[in-house]
Amino acid sequence: MPIRLIVHGGAWNIPEDQQEAHVFGVRKAVAAAWPLLQDGASALDVVEEAVKHLEADTTLDAGRGAFLNSQGEIELDAMIMDGRNLNFGAVAAVQNLLHPVSVARRLMESKEFRMLVGRGAQDFAKREGFTQLDPQALLTERELAFYDKIREDASFQSKAPFGPLPGDTVGAVAMDIHGQLAAATSTGGTPRKWPGRVGDSPIPGAGAYADNECGAASTTGWGESIIKILLAKTVTDFENQGHNAHKAAAMGIAILAKKVSGLGGVITIDRRGNYGWARTPPKMAFAYWDTERETIEAAISV
Ligand code: GLY
Repeated sequence: MPIRLIVHGGAWNIPEDQQEAHVFGVRKAVAAAWPLLQDGASALDVVEEAVKHLEADTTLDAGRGAFLNSQGEIELDAMIMDGRNLNFGAVAAVQNLLHPVSVARRLMESKEFRMLVGRGAQDFAKREGFTQLDPQALLTERELAFYDKIREDASFQSKAPFGPLPGDTVGAVAMDIHGQLAAATSTGGTPRKWPGRVGDSPIPGAGAYADNECGAASTTGWGESIIKILLAKTVTDFENQGHNAHKAAAMGIAILAKKVSGLGGVITIDRRGNYGWARTPPKMAFAYWDTERETIEAAISV
């Protein structure tokens, strides 16, 4: 089977002075995870590894560098999904963890529960031996300054960042040598969100979806709109109907825009191994391994 890997680092109006850092971040994630895929690693291992690199990148709104909520704290959401059996793991509103995607993976493999939130997710991570960081360890000066700027601004809306403001969600989709698909997504959510607010990213079908018989997808953008149309599932449903990944992504985004005036982007791989991506905001950072040119393509789509 062809092997494939595509990642994103958010869809919003990425200003010119931040574009290079975004392209660098998504390229680095593919560069780190692609060799694993070549060595026969599972799609699940590869999407987890790629997302861990994106979570560690301070440019992006996931793990280190995430937005602050209305109390000035970082709360993270993440999920991972296995296209072989529709199994998934998800955590929401977790704190002090650099890699919530790995906690989601561990939860998926624990078999008993699929999704944990807040303190329960935190306790699970602790029990499983994940390092609990000092809250400062995830904080960046950029996000602190942004929080200070918006904290008392009555006109600020959580969907504003999909205009000309910093950051967004990360994600990865892969197909391994056995033709298995997987997807993973991780986020700090929206800026100044209400504590406990859960966006699209950890919701199966909204933030990510993977089904070997259809395709796999990871989304980014304004969660309150993406949840309404289950964007990732909508795209893979189109793939199941026979549309290639490119067309399915465009059709999903058209529904997001038309039905709910949504803002967001999606990356996807269909079951035949085609790549697809589409977005409503002006720009999306993404990278994939181009198997024809045998190199990484990393770009801000405009
Ligand atoms: N897409 C990230 C969020 O809205 O939480």
